Amino acid sequence: MTGARITGIGTSLPDRVVTNFDLEQTLDTSHDWIVERTGIHERHIGESTTQLGLEASQKALAMAGVDPVDLDLIVFATTTPDSLFPIGGCLVQDALGAHRSGAVDLNAACSGFMYALIAGYGYIGRGISKVLVVGAETLSRIVDWDDRSTAILFGDGAGAVVLEATTDANDSLLGWHTGSKGSAGSILRCTDMRGFIEMEGKEVFRQAVLAIEETVGITLERAGVGVDEVDAFVFHQANVRIIDAACKRIGADPARSIKVIQHTGNTSSASIPLTIDEGLRTGAIANGDTVLMAGFGAGMTYASALLRWGP
Ligand SMILES: CC(C)(COP(=O)(O)OP(=O)(O)OC[C@H]1O[C@@H](n2cnc3c(N)ncnc32)[C@H](O)[C@@H]1OP(=O)(O)O)[C@@H](O)C(=O)NCCC(=O)NCCS
Repeated sequence: MTGARITGIGTSLPDRVVTNFDLEQTLDTSHDWIVERTGIHERHIGESTTQLGLEASQKALAMAGVDPVDLDLIVFATTTPDSLFPIGGCLVQDALGAHRSGAVDLNAACSGFMYALIAGYGYIGRGISKVLVVGAETLSRIVDWDDRSTAILFGDGAGAVVLEATTDANDSLLGWHTGSKGSAGSILRCTDMRGFIEMEGKEVFRQAVLAIEETVGITLERAGVGVDEVDAFVFHQANVRIIDAACKRIGADPARSIKVIQHTGNTSSASIPLTIDEGLRTGAIANGDTVLMAGFGAGMTYASALLRWGP
């Protein structure tokens, strides 16, 4: 049995910032309403999913000191690929010059990065040694900018991590869980790549809190770790109130949950690596910490993982 750990992380956000005040110009909304109901102040919009994913990947590889040629596999999580095919993983593989690497796209909506990360650990457990896990999105392309109930929520961005096999069986993945609830599929939909996100906001909110509670409970139980032993919580960044409500339900101190949503909005499968990166920069995540990550999204899908951070 081979262990694995994250050796590099990188993120990318488009340069263009769209503030709530900008949205006030075109929508019947206000900065105060958006902040009070969501915690979002601004989001980044622009570039392509491939470009954002590439930039994040290059930074993650540089931090890990891994040459792209040595990558075995790219797992590319996205709901908004630039084309159905060639797939996003192949576009990034080519741009990186990762000639030896395999590539696959994975779509689990906003849980995509969690599913991709868990898959990455699984592939390494079966004998390969270097996996690049990417979450990259341009949700701005499927948002109806005339619909105030969804346009205020989403943004573009990407994050990537390099996963490498460890020489011993000392795995940094302490526990994990994946779940789904297809019966709730209709509450958050985009039925056509040229169509728009449709959402029953209140029901998504309710289901999201329940999903986090369930998946976190199972992961902690599998790991044999109590909620008080977790140093940092990294939840999908969809709404600050969802994160706070989920912390309350699982009995976690909200102060230990890292937030980046105020600057990014909901970036779907990019949100978890963007939040980890924020935690590393602010010192909220340090070597040796136990970090609990949980995602939820359309489908519904949800997933979580408990990691021991660092070497
Ligand atoms: C979308 C969301 C912010 C709405 O907040 P809410 O507190 O549930 O608000 P409601 O939908 O009940 O709307 C309350 C009122 O504000 C209005 N409103 C909706 N969007 C508004 C906006 N952008 N600006 C101002 N008013 C708005 C509604 O029309 C409603 O008005 P009414 O009372 O006159 O009918 C919230 O439900 C949410 O975040 N849900 C989860 C969405 C999500 O996370 N999706 C992605 C999951 S991966």
